[in-house]
Amino acid sequence: MQKTVLVTGGTGYIGSHTAVELMQKSYNVVIVDSLENSELSVLDGIEKITSQKPKFEQADLAERNATLKLFEKYPNIDAVIHFAAYKAVGESVAFPLKYYRNNLNSLMNVLEAMALHEVKNLVFSSSCTVYGQPDVLPVTEQTPIQEANSPYGNTKQISEEIIRDFLHVTPSIQAIALRYFNPIGAHESALIGELPIGVPNNLVPFITQTAAGLRKELSVFGDDYQTPDGSAIRDYIHVVDLALAHVKAIDRLFNGEAKKTIEHFNLGTGKGVSVLECIQSFEKVTGLKLPYKMAARRPGDVEQIWANTSFANQELQWQTQRSLDDAMLSAWNWEKRIRKI
Ligand code: UD1
Repeated sequence: MQKTVLVTGGTGYIGSHTAVELMQKSYNVVIVDSLENSELSVLDGIEKITSQKPKFEQADLAERNATLKLFEKYPNIDAVIHFAAYKAVGESVAFPLKYYRNNLNSLMNVLEAMALHEVKNLVFSSSCTVYGQPDVLPVTEQTPIQEANSPYGNTKQISEEIIRDFLHVTPSIQAIALRYFNPIGAHESALIGELPIGVPNNLVPFITQTAAGLRKELSVFGDDYQTPDGSAIRDYIHVVDLALAHVKAIDRLFNGEAKKTIEHFNLGTGKGVSVLECIQSFEKVTGLKLPYKMAARRPGDVEQIWANTSFANQELQWQTQRSLDDAMLSAWNWEKRIRKI
């Protein structure tokens, strides 16, 4: 029988790409989103790609009653992928309570509703930010967690702990926490992509908006890191590859292959790429010249981090298939479409 997956935050960036891949693998998808940081029109993009309209509910999962009502309305949910959360690092420093209240309450409400309705499978959006600046690279899932350097990062650490503790007393639920490195790019169709609100904080939307003429120039934060070209290094993963890993995680839970009640997986490419290399890739695939200047380090940034992805490769039978160039080109095609360039 067709399984139903509730995708919270499903009109958001990673959620929408994951909804598409689930639907294309014949999962029945229900999207719930508050629409605070995303738009209803994302559903049209999903429908154009998959030729199906996903079921959609507008609700704020930080509200307990709304969450319980949602699970009552959809009694046949087999799994939840919980994306819905605030994600701006800087904003979380300015408004910590807003972040703790939203990100933690929504998770606790979802867990409570899952237990009440006997929903057995959870995939949780975590982040490589839980590792801080690790001493040894690349990071494995055994790399020690470090003190979070922002309330946002702390909500991811605490969320993983909440899930662990809750599963300890609710062994009928199994969970997979996916620790994302840096998701970038857009769907190849350019029908869905990242829609940052206001001035983007993240590198790739800033690059594409600069190329589109919305921003004067990109500031490269830091030219004196201990890296080959002096700029900071991250592991940039194409959002479609990331979405496909969620489908594998869901398959693993449904197939009963998980070895512990909560498992953690790093989702990256296994390759570290500098900010300057990102710019070079963008310029190469688009043929454009990107205006940029070197600038001071951004407070809170780590120098370098990239993933050891062996565990995900083996256990999820998942490999990234898209390159940095593919991601940059797809991000640019998306930007061009939304700006009508
Ligand atoms: C951050 C968070 C990550 C979160 C992600 C999504 C940390 C350590 N990481 O990733 O957990 O999931 O945001 O919001 O908190 N850069 C520039 N110029 C710019 C923008 C960025 O040079 O205008 C550089 C940054 O300094 C960094 C790299 O580009 O070296 C990537 O930055 P960004 O896209 O913001 O992601 P992270 O900070 O790595």
